Amino acid sequence: MKISGRTRVCGLIGDPVEHSLSPSIQNAAFRSLGLDYVYVVLRVSKESLEDAILGMRGLGFRGLNVTMPHKIDVTRHLDELDETAKNVGSVNTILNRNGLLIGYTTDGIGALRALRYNGVDPSGKKIVLLGAGGASRSVSFTLAKEASEIVILNRTVEKAERLANDLTFVLGDGAKVRAEGLSDGNLKKELVDADVLVNATSVGMHPKEEETPVDRHFLRPKLVVFDLVYEPFETRLLREAREVGARTLDGLAMLVHQGAASIEIWTGVSAPTEVMMKAALEGLAEAKR
Ligand code: ATR
Repeated sequence: MKISGRTRVCGLIGDPVEHSLSPSIQNAAFRSLGLDYVYVVLRVSKESLEDAILGMRGLGFRGLNVTMPHKIDVTRHLDELDETAKNVGSVNTILNRNGLLIGYTTDGIGALRALRYNGVDPSGKKIVLLGAGGASRSVSFTLAKEASEIVILNRTVEKAERLANDLTFVLGDGAKVRAEGLSDGNLKKELVDADVLVNATSVGMHPKEEETPVDRHFLRPKLVVFDLVYEPFETRLLREAREVGARTLDGLAMLVHQGAASIEIWTGVSAPTEVMMKAALEGLAEAKR
């Protein structure tokens, strides 16, 4: 990679970010496309967020990915939000269009692309979505547009109901959305005829890797199981889903496909998903060494 006076700069802001695989993935995409872009990782504390966004404008960065803890706070510092980002209330991608900073969220489209890339078309399907926090909200607006039915199960049922109401309000009567508590009884009942299960809770995340949000007896070979948890990439839920013969998608797929959508926003060019997935797997293997 050759950096010149014309190289355009993109990056990731968040805290912590040291272990991010995004530079491997995004730089591989730029290289493969032959674009004079570079992607850097910038650790930005909560207190420095406003300065960082002013810096993006002042330094003429072309784009930023935004991760924890800034995805919600950053919306206040931008000039415009695209419609999905507005509905979701968070941003993971910023485009600098001649000084105008526009916020997008590519989590939902990333999840949809990851499913389609793996041969799963959620349109007309029943999706069971676990969780009603930030991650769930991010993917629900896109998935609810595709699915025939989406059932949100959350430990705190009021939060699931609020999200279901927001989805119905924004998407109209077309989207069949229901909210229930996250209990064995509801899991058993809803998974019997579900096509896709998405885990957007933090259950199973490091350091509580022995936990799973779904008893393995409720998993079936016909179910597609997508876990958004990315630490570890193979959660107990995914391992058990694989063992019963279900198709599985992990947080790495999510990372690559939402990154691909960001690349397209910054460059206007189709992202090389296969190259990016390969770079992600190599980056992961390197990190384990
Ligand atoms: P994120 O941005 O990753 O979605 P979050 O907004 O804090 O993080 O949401 C975490 C989600 O995981 C919530 O849906 C939470 O359920 P509650 O709304 O009831 O808190 C869910 N969650 C976290 N720990 C859980 C546990 N031990 N059992 C079930 N759900 C859990």
